[in-house]
Amino acid sequence: MNKTLTNHIRNTQLLVKRLEQKRPLTMRHSCNVNKISCRIAQKLGVEDETELAYLRMGTLLHDLGKVDIPTSIIDKPGLLNNTEYCIIMKHTIFGHQQLRSFPIEVSQIALYHHERYDGQGYPYGLNGEQIPLLARICSVADVYDAMVSWRPYHKGKSLQEAIYELERGSGRQFDPFIVGIFINQLLDIECDQSIVPL
Ligand SMILES: [Fe+2]
Repeated sequence: MNKTLTNHIRNTQLLVKRLEQKRPLTMRHSCNVNKISCRIAQKLGVEDETELAYLRMGTLLHDLGKVDIPTSIIDKPGLLNNTEYCIIMKHTIFGHQQLRSFPIEVSQIALYHHERYDGQGYPYGLNGEQIPLLARICSVADVYDAMVSWRPYHKGKSLQEAIYELERGSGRQFDPFIVGIFINQLLDIECDQSIVPL
């Protein structure tokens, strides 16, 4: 492994510790997003070791910008009002700024993971393949983990409910090819209960 990549991995570990301290729930979610994204990438045939390393770093740190958002908004139970929602959306920009010393493939995951395939996402309303591949992968993993996770203010969806929502979002929120591959993985898990869910 080259020296630059080793340095980026070391810096990722430092930032992961920071996120763990300030936002432990976000860090747990980010670890799940990381694992799910790596499985999707494997199924997509992404084999380049450097690209996979960028995916690991970017997914672990995709919500890093949340350390700059007030805890009262991050931990607010229930719906956010318009002002709070506008503030929370900025975590993509803040995360991107904090990752500017990383390769662009890494910082773009933080910046674009809330973009939508139909162009209705944020911060820029990019659509389709304007959104970098690694960010499109992270988006599917991010939403899936948020749906199935239990939070103080919402119960996690079942696997079947999550698959239904992913299908509904195919071609709208998500890249249809990526979400199709992921749904097939989930269906394999549903058929074989001996496999530990993602
Ligand atoms: Fe996010």
